[in-house]
Amino acid sequence: MSLRENEVGRRVAPHLEAGDTVLDLGAGTGRVSLWLARRAGVRPTLADVVPYSNRQREFPFLAMDDPFHVPAEDRSFDVVLLLFALHHNRYEAQSKIVAEAIRLMRRRLVVAEDTPFGRVDHAFNVAWDKVLNLRHGVPTPFAFRSVPEWLDVFLEHGMRAVHVESYRPRWPTLMTYHHSVFFLEPEGRLAASMAE
Ligand SMILES: C[S@@+](CC[C@H](N)C(=O)[O-])C[C@H]1O[C@@H](n2cnc3c(N)ncnc32)[C@H](O)[C@@H]1O
Repeated sequence: MSLRENEVGRRVAPHLEAGDTVLDLGAGTGRVSLWLARRAGVRPTLADVVPYSNRQREFPFLAMDDPFHVPAEDRSFDVVLLLFALHHNRYEAQSKIVAEAIRLMRRRLVVAEDTPFGRVDHAFNVAWDKVLNLRHGVPTPFAFRSVPEWLDVFLEHGMRAVHVESYRPRWPTLMTYHHSVFFLEPEGRLAASMAE
């Protein structure tokens, strides 16, 4: 598996449990899920609006006709992953996708995002996003947010961060801007309603 999957997988795996059912929402090719299945023992299901011809075929795939709806029952998965998918949607759409991810999750939501820390970071982020997504035809509205802005979005949905880490990824973007990974759990009223 590639250097990128190693880099992402190593950050996410310590926050999952072997045997977890995991929905990889916006899975792309599903290679991060493959890494997590092999190294962390989770059981992935992939979902995406784009049915990649080269996606991992060993996992179930939920094709999405609607970018705001995954065809699955409420609370179907222990964990939902939203890895580098949200910024491909306009700002006003991101909140609806977060709500859909929360609907499907039982225990934890993991979000990884491009989170440029300043103007130079932002310029590199825009350039890489354009280059890396051209061949797949995935939209790039450059709808990035900072770490505090994402935390506000998650709090509006009743999710608190139990852990956040920001870093400059080596692969494939050569440490030119920041990524952040958010590990989120329900709090307050949402937690109470999920426990019923
Ligand atoms: C940069 S790729 C990341 C793929 C994978 N998560 C990874 O980290 O390797 C973003 C993916 O999110 C998907 N995506 C974007 N918006 C989505 C939405 N609203 N619902 C489902 N998938 C979405 C795109 O089709 C694309 O496959």
